[in-house]
Amino acid sequence: MNIAIVTGGGDAPGLNAVIRSAVLSALGMGWTVSGLRDGMRSLMVPADYPKGPLIPLDHNSVRGITFLGGTILGTTNQSNPLEPVDRTPEIIENLRKLNLDALLMVGGDGTMAIASRIAKQGFPVVGIPKTIDNDLDGTVVTFGFDTAVEFATQCIDRLHSTAESHGRVMVVEVMGRYAGWIALESGLAGTADVILIPEIPYKMEPILAKLKERKSTRGFSLVVIAEGAHPVDQTYSTHQGRLGGAAQRLQSAIEEATGLDTRNVVLGHLLRGGPPNARDRLYSLRFGSAAVRALAEGRKADMVALDPPNVRYLPLEEATRHMKTVPLDCDSILTARALGTCLGDE
Ligand code: F6P
Repeated sequence: MNIAIVTGGGDAPGLNAVIRSAVLSALGMGWTVSGLRDGMRSLMVPADYPKGPLIPLDHNSVRGITFLGGTILGTTNQSNPLEPVDRTPEIIENLRKLNLDALLMVGGDGTMAIASRIAKQGFPVVGIPKTIDNDLDGTVVTFGFDTAVEFATQCIDRLHSTAESHGRVMVVEVMGRYAGWIALESGLAGTADVILIPEIPYKMEPILAKLKERKSTRGFSLVVIAEGAHPVDQTYSTHQGRLGGAAQRLQSAIEEATGLDTRNVVLGHLLRGGPPNARDRLYSLRFGSAAVRALAEGRKADMVALDPPNVRYLPLEEATRHMKTVPLDCDSILTARALGTCLGDE
């Protein structure tokens, strides 16, 4: 077998661990492995890649990268071969010209949709679920999420002491697109007083009541808001066409209504950078190796998924059907409510 690995979409901690695991597992099978440069972009804009789209990968190329953030192959969330027109037939032709037999595609929902489209046309693909947002269906968790939650929690911990010293309201914005997983889990772990997620459009009254009560009892408050969270009567906050500004909007609304000294902090891409934590390294290593085993078993259109205590495989088509958002009756939501955390609805 001659296979290639491609990392697509926004980077996430653990990509390099997946690459190392897949490469070593494939070499162990006696296969040849390469990496595609910059996601699918190197196949779509060949003129920008004078050395060609492939980086040959051997034991040496993946030495010492398990704990490195980012991806040694490069990635992009801008060259989408499905839009504005479907360019996957041309991509498959290029993959065949490169004598490739199969592709391991590491990415989130966008990458899995491309993987599914390629696989439908008969080119074998196995997907590996990545995203800090954890919004991919079919897997209990994506790699990258745990590191993002851990880092966000550390930041919230640090903001506690400065908020308390100044008697302030601190509003912390975290990524996550249209899903509130990062906000909910880091907010709970960091004992935020208010957690706002896209799944629960918020009203100002309960938030203001909570902040005023906190001012009179403890003097300060921590609010964690997902970038996709929005008031009941308004839509997502955006900046230059991208999600962003949710914390700024809330800070202004709080100050205007209460006069409370309020600051906002946007964690943004800090959540994507840096080394994967131990949990994400393990997921990545397990996913990379399982993906190679999937190809060896003759799977041609599946995604690796975490199904504790093991990994399983499911059809790529199934994995891309729905976005996984926070169920309103999940136990983390029930726990937050039981602890008196304001979720913006009551
Ligand atoms: O999907 C990962 C993610 O980090 C989202 O949480 C965020 O909305 C988006 O990517 C940011 O993308 P970009 O890297 O283009 O700013």
